[in-house]
Amino acid sequence: MKSFYHLLRFATCLAMVGVFYPVLSQTPAADSALIPLPAQWAKGNGQFVLPNPVTLQIPVGDSLGLIADHIRSKIEMSTGYAVQVQTGNGAAIRLAINKKTDVAMGKEGYNLLVDAKGIQITANTAAGLFYGVQTMWQLLPAEIESKTVVKELNWTLPFSSIADKPRFGYRGLMLDVVRHWFDKEQVKDFIDQMVKYKYNFLHLHLTDDQGWRIEIKSLPRLTDIGAYRPERTGVFGSFKGPQPEEARNYGGYFTQADMKEIIAYAKARFVTILPEIDVPGHSMAILAAYPELACTPGTYEVNVGNRFMIWPPGGHFYGLVDNTLCPANEKVYETLDKIFGEIAQLFPYAYIHMGGDETYKGFWEKSDAVKALMQKEKLKNMDEVQSYFVKRVSKIIASKGKKMIGWDEILEGGIPPDAVVMSWRGEKGGIEAAKLKHPVIMSPSTFTYVDLYQGDPLAEPPSYGNVRLKKSYDFNPVPAGVDSTYVMGGQANLWSERLHTVRHMQYMLWPRGWAVAESVWSPVRLKNWPDFVARTEAHFKRADQAVVNYSTSMYDPIVEVKKVTDSSIQVVLSTEIPGLDIHYSFDEFYPDFYYPVYNQPLLFPVGASSLKLVTYRNKQKIGKSINLPLDELKKRVKMN
Ligand code: ACM
Repeated sequence: MKSFYHLLRFATCLAMVGVFYPVLSQTPAADSALIPLPAQWAKGNGQFVLPNPVTLQIPVGDSLGLIADHIRSKIEMSTGYAVQVQTGNGAAIRLAINKKTDVAMGKEGYNLLVDAKGIQITANTAAGLFYGVQTMWQLLPAEIESKTVVKELNWTLPFSSIADKPRFGYRGLMLDVVRHWFDKEQVKDFIDQMVKYKYNFLHLHLTDDQGWRIEIKSLPRLTDIGAYRPERTGVFGSFKGPQPEEARNYGGYFTQADMKEIIAYAKARFVTILPEIDVPGHSMAILAAYPELACTPGTYEVNVGNRFMIWPPGGHFYGLVDNTLCPANEKVYETLDKIFGEIAQLFPYAYIHMGGDETYKGFWEKSDAVKALMQKEKLKNMDEVQSYFVKRVSKIIASKGKKMIGWDEILEGGIPPDAVVMSWRGEKGGIEAAKLKHPVIMSPSTFTYVDLYQGDPLAEPPSYGNVRLKKSYDFNPVPAGVDSTYVMGGQANLWSERLHTVRHMQYMLWPRGWAVAESVWSPVRLKNWPDFVARTEAHFKRADQAVVNYSTSMYDPIVEVKKVTDSSIQVVLSTEIPGLDIHYSFDEFYPDFYYPVYNQPLLFPVGASSLKLVTYRNKQKIGKSINLPLDELKKRVKMN
């Protein structure tokens, strides 16, 4: 009913402007490739050219003033044009808040019209106008993203009539600022990047085994001790543990003043910060500061990326060192009361994320205090002990006037009332939680873990698992059989164990972050993979202008290895995007355009020790030169 009304309204809007025709699922011109796709978009014949100076009409208001600043600084930076705010009619860019609320448009929707008179954006709210402005940037040439003035360019926008609104109210990105320390300016820059794609929640993973990154004034040791560790570079998980003589000088933390600045910066861009304090597992940094909070007596060190948890393939993980808070120690709850009290004061959002993931309970099993707790509280097993802890935390959070979010492990042993489940171990937890009538945020590792491999592991920086771009694009936050009213939205997660630089972080995030953005904003009926690929390529140019890194691994082949005999293998190649040729060689030379093109499964020739690959499109090298040693490929199949 609602969407019918929306279409009707849209048709009226088209009739009014006359010359527009819908381009709902066609591949748009590269200079107007929108990500995420708007709900409705009709393109007209003609284009509007930004004049110099650019006149801007915008209503008065706090957040509207910030939007005006945003428009002015971006236009001045890339075009060199002056921007003049005017009160009368007839400005080149006209922003207006609806006098009468347009119910179908919702809180974040907007209409955008580009015609001979200029650009007009209308919305119910400042947030809606801001999203309309983000779409406006994408209608302009890629150079609008430049950080320096680009001269002698026509700043054109195609005539368009757009009626848009998000599919979900929660559109999140998670950034792990613990394993790699991303500082205040880097987080602000991250926010600038995410809002271009209409993300509105930044989940900050603030605490973990490798550091504590938020000032808690009543517990200064958390950051004095917990925020620093000896520096390591290379492959996380393979590092030597901290040595007594080493300086603990890698890391940092946000003071509460820093965090207030980030929160305000985010708010001005319509982004809400969701803080995560990850307990009872992932707690080595707290234990380094307050070892008495563990069930296992001893001294603890902030982890540097040395292995202390074992993840047997297909089996249950187990810890070599206790990294958990003791659920049977009242001092733990007193400490958490202080922590969540300050977090609740600092962050305006109604929810606090308490983590709850990957708690190894083997040390709890050995603890007399936990045994006594089980007897006293009639807890039958370790899941119920964990649930006891989670429920106590939920009460602490509620006592501060907030509600809790936790990773899907909070379902184990019984979920606290009102808790939101963030489903990460696939979609299972989200499905179960929605059935229990709990709100869910979907962030399944199978689709939205943008720290995982996005191409062949032999051609990528070290990671785990595999989520290629197509898989991220296939993300649907409402799994089959789930009542969508319980789905708040979706989120992509960027863990930073294996990131050492911002360039690497951006490489992992984009373009998969674009695919997830479309999954959480655009109507599912508009999903079209080849069309998304074309738009992604247009956005590579935008990212180049903005000096933001991205991965082009979508051009690289998918490699499958099959066993033929006990000593020989066959390699099956494919690509995830259409129109590529894979050239190959077994002769140790890196192939080029004149080498054979793959057209059927390849049997490794006797004596060959590697397969080398590269993809071309229209005679242009487009993929990476990839070396696949036979020994490595053999590891992918069980050879006798
Ligand atoms: C998680 O990835 N451990 C939530």
